[in-house]
Amino acid sequence: MSYTLAIAAKAPVVAYPALIAAAFVNTTSDASVSIDFIDEKEVDGSASKLTKGEETFKGDAVLEKLAADFPESLKEFTESKQWIEFGQSELSVKDFKKLSLSLEKLDAHLNYRAFILGYQVTLADIAAWGSIRGNAVMTSVIRNQTYINISRWFSFLETDKRFGGVLSLFTEAIAEVRKQAKANQAASGKKKETHKANFDINLQDAVDGQVVTRFPPEPSGYLHIGHAKAAILNKYFADQYHGKLIIRFDDTNPSKEKLEFQDSIIEDLRLLGIKGDKTTFSSDYFQEMYDLAIQLIKEGKAYCDDTVQEKMRDERMNGIASARRERTVEENLQIFTEEMKNGTEEGLKNCLRAKMSVDNPNKAMRDPVIYRCNLTPHHRTGTTWKMYPTYDFCVPIVDSIEGVTHALRTIEYRDRNPQYEWFLVNLNLRKVHIWDFARVNFVRTLLSKRKLQWFVDKGHVSNWDDPRFPTVRGVRRRGMTVEGLKNFVVAQGPSRNIINLDWSVIWALNKKIIDPVAPRHTAVVKPVKVTVVGGPEKTVEKKPKHKKNADVGEKDVVYYKNIVIDQEDADSLEDSEEFTLMDWGNAIVTKLTKEGEHVSAVEVKLHLEGDFKKTKHKFTWLADTEDKVPVELVDFDHLITKDKIEDGEDFENFLTPETEFHTAAVADLNVKKLEVGDIIQFERKGYYRLDAKADGEKPAVFFTIPDGKTVSKYGAK
Ligand SMILES: *[C@@H]1O[C@H](CO)[C@@H](O)[C@H](O)[C@H]1NC(C)=O
Ligand SMILES: *[C@@H]1O[C@H](CO)[C@@H](O)[C@H](O)[C@H]1NC(C)=O
Ligand SMILES: *[C@@H]1O[C@H](CO)[C@@H](O)[C@H](O)[C@H]1NC(C)=O
Ligand SMILES: *[C@@H]1O[C@H](CO)[C@@H](O)[C@H](O)[C@H]1NC(C)=O
Repeated sequence: MSYTLAIAAKAPVVAYPALIAAAFVNTTSDASVSIDFIDEKEVDGSASKLTKGEETFKGDAVLEKLAADFPESLKEFTESKQWIEFGQSELSVKDFKKLSLSLEKLDAHLNYRAFILGYQVTLADIAAWGSIRGNAVMTSVIRNQTYINISRWFSFLETDKRFGGVLSLFTEAIAEVRKQAKANQAASGKKKETHKANFDINLQDAVDGQVVTRFPPEPSGYLHIGHAKAAILNKYFADQYHGKLIIRFDDTNPSKEKLEFQDSIIEDLRLLGIKGDKTTFSSDYFQEMYDLAIQLIKEGKAYCDDTVQEKMRDERMNGIASARRERTVEENLQIFTEEMKNGTEEGLKNCLRAKMSVDNPNKAMRDPVIYRCNLTPHHRTGTTWKMYPTYDFCVPIVDSIEGVTHALRTIEYRDRNPQYEWFLVNLNLRKVHIWDFARVNFVRTLLSKRKLQWFVDKGHVSNWDDPRFPTVRGVRRRGMTVEGLKNFVVAQGPSRNIINLDWSVIWALNKKIIDPVAPRHTAVVKPVKVTVVGGPEKTVEKKPKHKKNADVGEKDVVYYKNIVIDQEDADSLEDSEEFTLMDWGNAIVTKLTKEGEHVSAVEVKLHLEGDFKKTKHKFTWLADTEDKVPVELVDFDHLITKDKIEDGEDFENFLTPETEFHTAAVADLNVKKLEVGDIIQFERKGYYRLDAKADGEKPAVFFTIPDGKTVSKYGAK
C-alpha cells in the first residue's frame, strides 16, 4: 500500500513528527509513504496532509493515521496522545520563558528513562522529538546541555536515521523543489525579477528555516535612512533563509525614551514595507538581566564602582585599575542589590562594571559599565526599577534569550564585538553570530537627531516628515519607493567601507523602479495660447497612460482648436516652423505674436500627414478648456551646501539660502483622480509624487522626485 504525505515547507511549525512517522512506516511495515514538499505556508490550511486512497487527513489525524500502520509495539497510541499534544502546543513555542517550563517537565520525566514511554521508541518520542527539531530556539539548548536528560535522549534518538536524517531529507528536498520552481519559471518565459539583486555573501552557519535576525531601534526618535538600511538588511536575511525577524524596542534608557516614538517607529517600518514576525522589548528582560548581573558578581566578574566619572574616564584611557576593582563579592552584592537597586544616595554614586580587563588594547574591553541608576520612571516598567542595564550588557543577553542567530550591526560597533562575546561566554549563553555592515552616509546630509531637531525648531523645514529630511518619512514623501530603497541597500550590502554617497545613486535606482509603471500626464508651465486654425471642436479620446505598459490603463485626452503650450516651448518656435504636438501630429506655425522678448500667442495649422521624425521640436500641450486643472509643482534642494561637515565645523555656517521652489502649472484633467502618494510622470518634465490633493482654492501639490540627474541650484547634485 502506498500513500502520500504533503508537507508545507514554510509552515511556522514544520510537521517534522509526521515526516519521522512516515519514515517509520516505510521501515516497519509493507506500506510506503511518498513525500510531497509544498513550498507554501500551509497545505489546505494545515502544516501537513496525508492522502490515503480516497481519504485525506490533516493536523493531528495525520500522525494518528500514520501510526495505524506501525507495528503493535510502537503504537502506544492512547498514551502517546498527550505527548503529541505536548509536542505541538508546548515544545513548539518560541518564547524561551514559556518553553523552559515545558522543558523542565520533559527533563524530569526523562530522568532514568531512555524513552518517553516504556522501553522503545513510540509515537510519543516521535511527536516530542520532531517538535523540538522543528523549533529553532531548541538547537542551542540541546547543544549546550542545559537539560541533560533531554539532550541525552535527543542525541540518542538522533543516531537513528529515521530521526537524524529528517532534517537533511527536508532541506535537500526543499532545495530541489525551489530549484525546480525556478527552472519552471524561467522555462515558462516569465520575466525574472530583475530588480532583486543578490548578496555575494552568506550568513555564517545559517540553516534554512532557522535564521532569526532582529532590528533593535531605541524608541527615541524617527527612523532615518541609516536605520532603514539596518531594518531592510535584517528583513532581507530573514526572508532569504525563510527565517524570522524580531523588531525589538531597545528601551533601557528611561531618560531618552517615549511611548509616542514606539508608534512612530512601527509606522516608519510600515513605510518601508517591514513587519516583524514579532515585536519585543528589552524591558521584558529586566529581571533576567538583573539575575545575570548578580551571577557575574557572584563569580567575581563584576564590581560596583563609585569612582567619579571624569576620573573613571581617565583611568580607562590610561589603563589604570579602579580603586574599587577588588571589592569583595559580599560588598558588591550589597551595593548592587540594595543601594543601586533601591536607587539610594549611595546607589546613585555607583555603577556596575564587568571585570574584563584593565589595559586591553581594545578600550571597549576595559571594564565596561553594565548597570547604572536612573530615577526617571520608565515608560513601560514605571518605578519598578531604579537602575538599568547599558546597551552593551543588554544586547548580547536579549539576542541570546530571544533566539537570535545572527546579529547584524553597523561597523562602528566592531570594537565592541569582543565584549559582546565575552558576555555570552561568561554568562553561559547561546552563541550569536555577529555580522557587521557599513553605515551609509550621504553628502550634504545630517543624520544627527539634535541637528535635525534644530531645523524643525527654526522653521527651516515643516516637520520630521519634510521631504528635505533623510528620515524614512521624508524620503518616502519625496517619492522614494520601498523597492528603490531595498535595491539600494541590497546593492550596498556586502560593502564594509563607509563612504559619503551622493544621493543621485539612490534616486537613479528609484527611477528604474518608477519609470516602467508611472502613468504619463501633461503639465504646462506659464501657458501660452495656441490657436489651431481649422482645428476640431472639443472631442475626448482614450489614450494609454504609459506607451510601453498597457497595464497602467487609459486616460482621457481632450482635443480642441485652442490649446496651450509652455512659455519656454513657445519662445523656441520660429516663423513657419513645422513641429510636433505629441499624441496628435505635426503643425506649422503661421503666426507668432511677441510681447517683449516672449512669445505671447501662436497660430498654427495642422499638418497631420507630416513626419514627426523630421521635426526639431516635439511639444506637450493641453486643450485650453475648463478641463485643465491648476497644480503646484515643488522642488527642493539640500539643506546644507557642504558635502561633509568636519568635526569642529558648525553646520549653521553652511545653510543653503533657499531650499524650496514653487512653480504654478496647469495639468490634464486625469490628475484629479490621483491619490496622495501616487507617483506619475509629467512628460518632458520629470517624475512627481502627489503630496496634497486640491482643496478648495488650493491647487493639488506635486513634489519633484529626483531622478539622479537633477542638479542643485547651488552646485550640488
Ligand atoms: C518512504 O519510501 C518512499 C519509497 O521508497 C520514498 O519515496 C520516501 O521518501 C520514503 N519516506 C521517508 C520519510 O523516508
Ligand atoms: C536527569 O536530570 C537530573 C536533573 O538535571 C539529573 O540529576 C539526573 O542525573 C539526570 N538523569 C540522567 C539519567 O542523566
Ligand atoms: C532596599 O529596599 C528593600 C525593600 O524595600 C529594603 O528591605 C531594604 O532595606 C532597602 N535597602 C536599603 C539599603 O535601603
Ligand atoms: C543554554 O542555552 C539556554 C538558552 O539559550 C540558556 O538559557 C542557558 O543558560 C544555556 N546553558 C548553558 C550551560 O550554556
